[in-house]
Amino acid sequence: ANGSVNIKVYFHVINKGTGVSNGNITDAQIAQQISVLNQAYANTPYRFTLAGTDRTTNSTWYTSTGGSSETAMKKALRKGTAADLNFYTNNMGGGLLGWATFPSSYKSQPTQDGVVVLYSSLPGGTAAPFNLGHTATHEVGHWLGLYHTFQGGCSSTGDSVSDTPAESTPASGCPKGRDTCSTAGLDPIENYMDYSDDACMTKFTAGQVARMESMVITYRGL
Ligand code: ARG
Ligand code: ZN
Ligand code: CA
Repeated sequence: ANGSVNIKVYFHVINKGTGVSNGNITDAQIAQQISVLNQAYANTPYRFTLAGTDRTTNSTWYTSTGGSSETAMKKALRKGTAADLNFYTNNMGGGLLGWATFPSSYKSQPTQDGVVVLYSSLPGGTAAPFNLGHTATHEVGHWLGLYHTFQGGCSSTGDSVSDTPAESTPASGCPKGRDTCSTAGLDPIENYMDYSDDACMTKFTAGQVARMESMVITYRGL
């Protein structure tokens, strides 16, 4: 892309009643999350703008980790086109932080497109050390076509990006000098597409930016 690409964000807050402890995150947290995304994607063409927020009280969708409850939730709430980001928050549980659909799945499953993020991982949430908003950064990375940095382990294909050093397994915490493959380079634990703590995630590489651009031009018309 030449210059910046604006992505509209439709926010769907799934809750089980009033108050943040029931998943009803505040409008201020949503605004902070959008701002964290814009900071994290500063070296990419992508800029995020809140286009709408809806709130739904539904105890089944509130704990959805996929399957028929996810299908129903997204069918009822999804807005926009392949180019728009549908962002759902709930209390998935099971230690999960979030999941996303890839650009290539839009065509066969348009209503299922989007990211689902644990509500307490938003900025100011209670899911420390995952409460600075980078679960969303990571899920949006998948939504824009990126794989995990540990995809494919130490194989040369890896995550299909040449400037992220290969990594055999996900990193956790914020390890210094981690080096799990004999190929060149320390593990990219500071990359948004690893599993490190939010506080040590700081970058997307130029190769990842190039992959996002090619994936979204092909599949999202962005
Ligand atoms: N496990 C999730 C996924 O693979 C998200 C990991 C997010 N990591 C973080 N530091 N917030 O999509
Ligand atoms: Zn992931
Ligand atoms: Ca290495």
